[in-house]
Amino acid sequence: MHDELYPVPEATAKAALIDNDKYLQMYQQSIDDPNAFWGEHGKRIDWIKPYTKVKNTSYDYHNVSIKWFEDGTLNVAANCIDRHLETRGDQTAIIWEGDDPADDEHITYRQLHERVSRLANAFKDNGVKKGDRVTIYLPMIPEAAYAMLACARIGAVHSIVFGGFSPDSLANRIEDCRSSFIITADEGLRGGRKVPLKANTDKAIEVAARDGAVVDKVIVVKRTGGDIAMKEGRDVWYHEAVEAASPDCPPEEMSAEDPLFILYTSGSTGKPKGVMHTTGGYLVYASMTHEYVFDYQDAEVYWCTADVGWVTGHSYIVYGPLANGATTLMFEGVPNYPSPSRFWEVVDKHKVSIFYTAPTAIRALMGAGEDYVKKTDRSSLRILGSVGEPINPEAWIWYYDVVGEKRCPIVDTWWQTETGGILITPLPGATALKPGSATRPFFGIQPQIVDAEGKELDGATEGNLVIADSWPGQMRTVYGDHERFVQTYFSTYKGKYFTGDGCRRDADGYYWITGRVDDVINVSGHRMGTAEVESALVAHPKVSEAAVVGYPHSLKGQGIYAYVTLMEGEEPSEELQKELVKWVRNEIGPIASPDLIQFAPGLPKTRSGKIMRRILRKIAEDAFENLGDTSTLADPGVVEDLIENRQNRA
Ligand code: WT7
Repeated sequence: MHDELYPVPEATAKAALIDNDKYLQMYQQSIDDPNAFWGEHGKRIDWIKPYTKVKNTSYDYHNVSIKWFEDGTLNVAANCIDRHLETRGDQTAIIWEGDDPADDEHITYRQLHERVSRLANAFKDNGVKKGDRVTIYLPMIPEAAYAMLACARIGAVHSIVFGGFSPDSLANRIEDCRSSFIITADEGLRGGRKVPLKANTDKAIEVAARDGAVVDKVIVVKRTGGDIAMKEGRDVWYHEAVEAASPDCPPEEMSAEDPLFILYTSGSTGKPKGVMHTTGGYLVYASMTHEYVFDYQDAEVYWCTADVGWVTGHSYIVYGPLANGATTLMFEGVPNYPSPSRFWEVVDKHKVSIFYTAPTAIRALMGAGEDYVKKTDRSSLRILGSVGEPINPEAWIWYYDVVGEKRCPIVDTWWQTETGGILITPLPGATALKPGSATRPFFGIQPQIVDAEGKELDGATEGNLVIADSWPGQMRTVYGDHERFVQTYFSTYKGKYFTGDGCRRDADGYYWITGRVDDVINVSGHRMGTAEVESALVAHPKVSEAAVVGYPHSLKGQGIYAYVTLMEGEEPSEELQKELVKWVRNEIGPIASPDLIQFAPGLPKTRSGKIMRRILRKIAEDAFENLGDTSTLADPGVVEDLIENRQNRA
């Protein structure tokens, strides 16, 4: 256990927005009187009609309802753009760094205003109305940010689908939220490789059409100029649509609780859920966390390496930073192209002060060796951040010592798609750090650790992480399925929001996230439901049954381990293993690729037929001695076979 304390570096302490006393004082206020606290901090954004009510939330299982600032009205795009024009119209809002190091662009707030307004009008010209869902399936190009903000400007609800998802995954999301509009690109470009986004979109529309979901319009950004099919009457070129559109688009007046976006995320059962976030509370929370967690100060260049296809990209590339009038960097490429120095070259090129990435990237770059780091300057760096999965102390220390040269605090930020923004995190000027700990709650957040029965555990302890009361950035519902929202998050421990994470609290009150306690695995910081991978596998004609678990993986954090039982008469082979991996990639996307597939003549089941995943997890972890009670198995013999044929760890 690394309980060593890393105090706030002196230079950070001098410059930071708040120190520890201030943190403690503000935290106490936020818990003692949430209405007063958020009533005050809600004013950090501009309201068209100011709110008079602040918090109106119920975690009561029979009546879960979450509303913040409910009688206020505002527009998110106006907050992210228009309100900055007077003071920072010529300041860079977005620095775009292309996949190719020779490609970059600076977009000022004034330019952002014009481009977003034109696109907003182009949406309207193509039939998009307030409340309509617009699917965004774009690479990391500025048009992705324009599209989000253009939706927000006219009150349309965006649903971003990560460019790495397959046509089927895209189709499912289009169908689920009945989205008749898509914005995509001809092709994406990552690490020198092309991604066929438009071709995928065409396939997805076909799949969706079979289920009766009709897509009316597809707006297509020309990114690579690659050869694609354009369907007459349905497909529209982006550059033509915005050129024809007016640059004058007054922002729509939205109610605080109108939806802003839907973002699909995996759970332990069923299809991905459409996590719904609304307008006012989300923006207050995203902008406030962005400022305090990253200690963002005027004119600094801030870079979050996530993709806008994930919630991190929503809250901490686009909405939080732009609401704060920051300069946010958007990167199209990957960490190791053209070389593992790329991140640090970009830091030097654009004088990045704050850098926010995922442990999986740190581990990969650590593996490439420190020379790639040391040959760059990095003196502009002030704050480092980590997100997506627990960061192992070795990676933390490397990040701290080698990348940050012991000068830059690391904010290890714990949160989820559902939480809208960061919940547990150090604050640079306030928190002494411990490698691997997300440390303490942000303002307004009441974490608790409970046992399996839901009893709150005090002091230094370990158990399941719940949050006792609401905060403004919390998701409001599962799109179209409020019952699923209640069941998933409020039924396990009545009256509390269940995070799905295990957690330890140490004697200093610091929180250490230990990983998911449900059937969700975290691959390179991306969430994957084991049930989804299983259903992709059993859709293969040669597969009769599949069980998927996570196992420790040195780069990805967790790898995907699939146990597969074949149909009668089918023979296991290496070829079939490869075919199944390819199959899952095609069904869901490359992030769901199984790392290891083990053919199993039988799976360990209880006499009532339930697969005992606990045993499968242990075998995948190589913890054979630790299988626990196997006496309830219908056929204990299958376990021996599984152990004998355990695949070698990747
Ligand atoms: C799950 C949420 C939050 C944006 C990226 C992922 C894990 C996230 C940390 C962290 C330990 C973390 C949790 C959480 N997680 N950040 N700093 N330390 N674990 O969002 O896809 O919704 O996944 O990621 O298990 O529940 P997501």
